[in-house]
Amino acid sequence: MATEADIDNAVRLLKAGGLVAIPTETVYGLAADALNPAAVRKIFGVKGRPPSHPLIVHVGRDARLEDWAAEVPPAARRLAERFWPGPLTMVLKRNPRVPLEVTGGQETVALRMPAHPVTLELLKRLGGGLAAPSANRFGQVSPTTAQHVRDDLGRDVELVLDGGPCTVGVESTIVDLSGDVPSLLRPGGVSREQLAGVLGTAPVAPEPERRVRTPGMLESHYAPRARVRTAAPELLEQTAAEELSAGRKTGVWTNGSVPSGAVRFPVGATASERAASLYAMLREADALGLDVLVLSLPDGGGLDAAVADRLSKAAAPRP
Ligand code: TXA
Ligand code: MG
Repeated sequence: MATEADIDNAVRLLKAGGLVAIPTETVYGLAADALNPAAVRKIFGVKGRPPSHPLIVHVGRDARLEDWAAEVPPAARRLAERFWPGPLTMVLKRNPRVPLEVTGGQETVALRMPAHPVTLELLKRLGGGLAAPSANRFGQVSPTTAQHVRDDLGRDVELVLDGGPCTVGVESTIVDLSGDVPSLLRPGGVSREQLAGVLGTAPVAPEPERRVRTPGMLESHYAPRARVRTAAPELLEQTAAEELSAGRKTGVWTNGSVPSGAVRFPVGATASERAASLYAMLREADALGLDVLVLSLPDGGGLDAAVADRLSKAAAPRP
């Protein structure tokens, strides 16, 4: 676990324009001082992420929305009041002081206050905000432990603040409040139903041109090396048998029986458990050298919608 001294060290590195991996309740982030364009550019280099893909600015408890956004609609205040700190990111019109490096050249900015004591303390001591994408190489599985970050980024990150395993386990919900009506860009830890409760109406699906601006919405994101194949629950065993007989090392995400020779990954009992263990499971499949992972998409709401979203993207055809 990160100590007080580690947090002070992180402040020093960030003020000097360095990168620090930070724990959040969703996934680990790779952070730079959001107001330092040169530091922010380093993030894109390390991740191998195209510079047009915008980053989320993480703010602390004493942040004022108007320091980051040019306009703060009442809905944004209500959502922040209800869900921050927590797994909700809001897209608002950009305050001109936010560098275009952070926003991928767009006139909007994504903001979130993460619910993790280490990172909230870091933000308090640092002041300002932290631009941070998930701390993995572009297009790969997000890290939910400090060790995952070290495995992925190695020496490319100066300091990894260890905050333990992420409790939510999938990335934040992203709601766009910069247009006429709120739209849901990415399902996550705050459900559509919870958003509707505060907004008065459910957020709509994004317009097609917003989609391309949100790489988390690209097909084939969040993918492990193993191919991911979806099947109806009653066909899981048969599908796994097919893969095995074709000579492929096969895993199955199920609590049911699997053909001999297949590796079984147990499914958590609740949506929260399924989300919290999702990325570790995908990493385990790769560590075992599996060729294919056979699974059924959960069909519940809440966090299951986020799990199903990430798994269907992992199962999408790869470039
Ligand atoms: O839970 C999370 O959100 C984690 C932790 C570290 O906070 N972060 C995360 O970052 O998932 P990243 O970069 O992997 O995904 C950020 C998403 C991307 O899909 C990006 O396109 C979208 O946020 N985004 C950022 N700024 C945006 C903007 N101005 N308009 C639309 N989408 C934006
Ligand atoms: Mg990511």
